[in-house]
Amino acid sequence: MAKRVLVSGGAGYIGSHVTVELIEAGYEVVVADNMSNCDMTCFEGVKKITGREDIPFEQIDCCDAAAVEKLFTDYKIDAVIHFAAYKAVGESVAEPIMYYRNNLVSFLNILESSKNHGGCNVLFSSSATVYGEAEKLPVTEQTPRLPATSPYGNTKQMCEDILRDTVKATAAYGAEVNAGAQQLGPVKGIALRYFNPIGAHPSALIGELPRGVPNNLVPFITQTAIGKRECLSIFGNDYPTEDGTCLRDYIDVVDLAKAHVVAVSRMLDGKMKEDYEIFNIGTGRPVSVYELVNAFEKVNGLKLNYKFAPRRPGDVVAIWADTQLANNELGWKAERSVEDTLAAAWAWEKRIAGK
Ligand code: WQD
Repeated sequence: MAKRVLVSGGAGYIGSHVTVELIEAGYEVVVADNMSNCDMTCFEGVKKITGREDIPFEQIDCCDAAAVEKLFTDYKIDAVIHFAAYKAVGESVAEPIMYYRNNLVSFLNILESSKNHGGCNVLFSSSATVYGEAEKLPVTEQTPRLPATSPYGNTKQMCEDILRDTVKATAAYGAEVNAGAQQLGPVKGIALRYFNPIGAHPSALIGELPRGVPNNLVPFITQTAIGKRECLSIFGNDYPTEDGTCLRDYIDVVDLAKAHVVAVSRMLDGKMKEDYEIFNIGTGRPVSVYELVNAFEKVNGLKLNYKFAPRRPGDVVAIWADTQLANNELGWKAERSVEDTLAAAWAWEKRIAGK
């Protein structure tokens, strides 16, 4: 029987792309989402792309321990991919308690139920933000994490540590489950540290749906191009880089989604080398903000209204991934060009604008 993967936060931007790839790889999925930062657009898109009308969807909040327990009782879950979290850096500085409560409690509940139901394989959605302003580039998984500069970043570091400690503590638990009864079992874990996920599915049926003014660069670009925003501000052109703008590792969301499928298969097929593993998920290719804006204009044949503006507080100058571990161990590599990704982002923006 096909293995079942619980995708928490599966109706959101990355979760919906991952759900598609899991189904296309032959996995059964159950999507859980409290819909706090999305609507049904992407879940409907997932059903269209996969031709599967019957994907189980549970509207629950993972901070509700009883609801998470019920999920693990109702479905036999072989692996969890945990996305359900708040993700706006600035908001986390203003509302730290809300961020710590939501991001930590939901993950604790997932881990608790995982160990109580005979053990589970847990993939945590982490971020390159854990590296901060790294001294040496590109960053490898061994590059030391620096103290987080926002509560959001701190929740990513804390959840990585909670997963590591849980894996260690549960390693010796027996894995047999008595019918209907709870049985402690080992939790195995992988943390994927994403760089900057951008773009949309080539079908333009799923993509990013930011609420309010976007914080991230690509949705701001596409919303400016469509006329929803007047002008893009490029934050800082006096950085110590070739063109003065920041460097990032922009990874296509479909490539990113595929990395999850390989990581989940690695866990389910017993291929892990350690019970807790960390992988950088990026392209290994630094691209400046200015280059990205130019590439967007060129590939989509339009002019973008932009201006140079002061630096944004908290931005690191440059970060990109050393992807060797993911390439060699997972056998995964980012494939899409930045141009194709920017064309997909634009197709998605036009679709949601009805143009
Ligand atoms: C990229 C570059 C900006 C907007 C953040 C989080 C990270 C991760 C992804 C979240 C920077 C510049 C941006 C704009 C601009 N997790 N920019 N004008 O800051 O690298 O990473 O998002 O979900 O944890 O920190 O991504 O897209 O905000 O910015 O010039 O209007 O674009 O200064 O150099 P960032 P981003």
